[in-house]
Amino acid sequence: MKILLAYSSKTKNTYKVAKAIYEQIKNFANVDLINIKKAKTKLSMYDFYILGCWTDKGTANKNMMNFIETQNIRQKNVAIFMTCGVPVEHYHAKDSINNFTQYMTNLNNNILGSFICQGKIDPKILIVFKFLTWRDPNFIHKIDQTMLEWVEISKPHPTKTDLLNAQNWIKSLLEKHY
Ligand SMILES: Cc1cc2nc3c(=O)[nH]c(=O)nc-3n(C[C@H](O)[C@H](O)[C@H](O)COP(=O)(O)O)c2cc1C
Repeated sequence: MKILLAYSSKTKNTYKVAKAIYEQIKNFANVDLINIKKAKTKLSMYDFYILGCWTDKGTANKNMMNFIETQNIRQKNVAIFMTCGVPVEHYHAKDSINNFTQYMTNLNNNILGSFICQGKIDPKILIVFKFLTWRDPNFIHKIDQTMLEWVEISKPHPTKTDLLNAQNWIKSLLEKHY
């Protein structure tokens, strides 16, 4: 079985999860681990697609959506994973994975499972967010006490437990469906 494991990652959180998943499944199937930034040409067909990305504005980041469009990933068996800035228990994490799921379903893909865990928020982004909050107090990522707390709590993520959870998730998904 041929599996495409493709990820989008700016600051390596999602890459770490992708790598953990890869280590878990590399002996089970013929797996191509791909950073979507480096996928410039049309890829061949796969039996199963595992797509991972970071969360932006409560859904998959733009580069991942562009990748899905240009690679024409439709009517495929797919599993998705994400990293996000908020704790996984927060409704925003559930909304984000649901939004990505909906996006994939709209392209007639068959979603076999999804996973999300927290990823360290790059402190550098706070400078940009501060400026944008100053310009527009209703800015979607406005800097307030809650945002600062999330930055703090997110620091150790993805943790060893997050990575183990990702591995267990993909293991049981493959056992169930393949
Ligand atoms: C520009 C920007 C926008 C973000 N928007 C969100 C968001 O809407 N929701 C969220 O939970 N996290 C958001 N985050 C946090 C990232 O999704 C999170 O830190 C992720 O783990 C980064 O993954 P990476 O290291 O693979 O790039 C945002 C981060 C950046 C830089």
